[in-house]
Amino acid sequence: MTQQRRGPFVAAIDQGTTSTRCMVFDRSGRVVSRDQREHAQAFPRAGWVEHDAAELWANTRAVTAAALSTADLVAGDIAAVGITNQRETAVVWDRTTGRPVAPAVVWQDTRTDAICRQLGELGGGADRYRDRTGLPLATYFSGPKLRWILDEVPGARERAEAGELLFGTVDSWLVWNMTGGVHGGVHVTDVTNASRTLLMDLDTLDWNADIAAEMGIPLRMLPQICSSSEVVGTARQRGTLAGVPIAGILGDQQAATFGQACLRVGQAKNTYGTGNFMLLNTGTQRVPSTHGLLTTVCYRLGEQPPVYALEGSIAVTGSLVQWFGDNLGMIGSAAEIESLATSVPDNGGAYVVPAFSGLFAPYWRDDARGAIVGLTRFVTRGHLARAVLEATAFQTREVLEAMRADSGVELTSLKVDGGMTANGTLMQFQADILGVPVIRPVVPETTALGAAYAAGLAVGFWDSPDDIVANWAADRQWNPAMADDLRDRQFRRWRKAVTRTFDWVE
Ligand code: G3P
Repeated sequence: MTQQRRGPFVAAIDQGTTSTRCMVFDRSGRVVSRDQREHAQAFPRAGWVEHDAAELWANTRAVTAAALSTADLVAGDIAAVGITNQRETAVVWDRTTGRPVAPAVVWQDTRTDAICRQLGELGGGADRYRDRTGLPLATYFSGPKLRWILDEVPGARERAEAGELLFGTVDSWLVWNMTGGVHGGVHVTDVTNASRTLLMDLDTLDWNADIAAEMGIPLRMLPQICSSSEVVGTARQRGTLAGVPIAGILGDQQAATFGQACLRVGQAKNTYGTGNFMLLNTGTQRVPSTHGLLTTVCYRLGEQPPVYALEGSIAVTGSLVQWFGDNLGMIGSAAEIESLATSVPDNGGAYVVPAFSGLFAPYWRDDARGAIVGLTRFVTRGHLARAVLEATAFQTREVLEAMRADSGVELTSLKVDGGMTANGTLMQFQADILGVPVIRPVVPETTALGAAYAAGLAVGFWDSPDDIVANWAADRQWNPAMADDLRDRQFRRWRKAVTRTFDWVE
């Protein structure tokens, strides 16, 4: 739907795993204003990770108000707002009180391993739903998390069946609140977020009633599935964005792919956040994976056919650095890791495999748990810091190899974004271990930018995706410089280290 041009800017809300930000962009895709706020991470038991959905909504309001006011902007300056979000995290709330019935179960949480195993035992194992959903049966995805909430919260299933409870990933939760909440909030999600639930059929782009029934999930609690770029509602009159159309929703990794202008078949990006997520645009073809990747929806613009992607999801990369500081006290802040890592020439033989949530791509092993291997008396804090950084690069190489094998596409360079791309030591090692150049764009906030583009395209703020391509520019490139035999030796060691994490959870 094309509307009259309203203001000179587009806003994006990026509700991520560790923080929420609001960014305002101009037509050239440059950041005009921003604000960011972190939220609490709860780890009530080993393998559990929770967020307070009410806090996520409160932070969303706060960062939006601050981003507008610091640049002296008002709602009338904003042509549209796009939403992007941590994916898979499950929220269930009461439609009459607007209160969540339980803490949000975060994508990293492994409490659903028994549910996943039981579903797999019905036949087909981890591949039971792969044909229809593109996903393996794993704790990562929303459907089993929703099932867990319905099983464990007293009265939840009955209330859901009676139509009193709503489910959503974080995008749904925010849009429902933004559009009025208990006073008629819109209950929607976009096709990229829906494709991460294990409940959406990749061909029909609708909920699969058979899978939902098998998982014990009432269809009536699920949101309506929209495209990634269309007006789904208007921000309620009392908020900072009063009257602004909500015109784009994309899961954060799909948003980054869009913001990185990976709009043609064979183009890929890798985002370095709490985890790493590499997405390869496969066009309107859904490419099945036989090498441990996901087939997922990349984006859908209005009524156009959906564009699919192959995705390599790595659960723990940036969050390993955080753990190294917060839990082990090895560094005072994440930024300190680079100087500690460069205090030594190499990893001293140590490898850190961060299987904190089991292992995601390409292994999909819920039974794995983290390990540090190769230790001798020689190994110091500096070596471990280096091994922590290298873990991200090695995991990325495993995913890149799976991409090549599944798609037949020979990636000759890799576009990167996200917090850890500020770490030049890591980026150089990444290029060395991949053997291809790594390229970072001028605007590194590609996630928020992608959501802004999706929203802006829907209201005619940008004319076509060509504008995205025209706005994209490279900032820095790292070229591979490591000798082949050293690269191969280190990667062989890494693979051996990974096998040491298997079969830990019985
Ligand atoms: O699938 C999980 C992913 O969407 C989380 O991304 O950047 O919030 O860690 P991020």
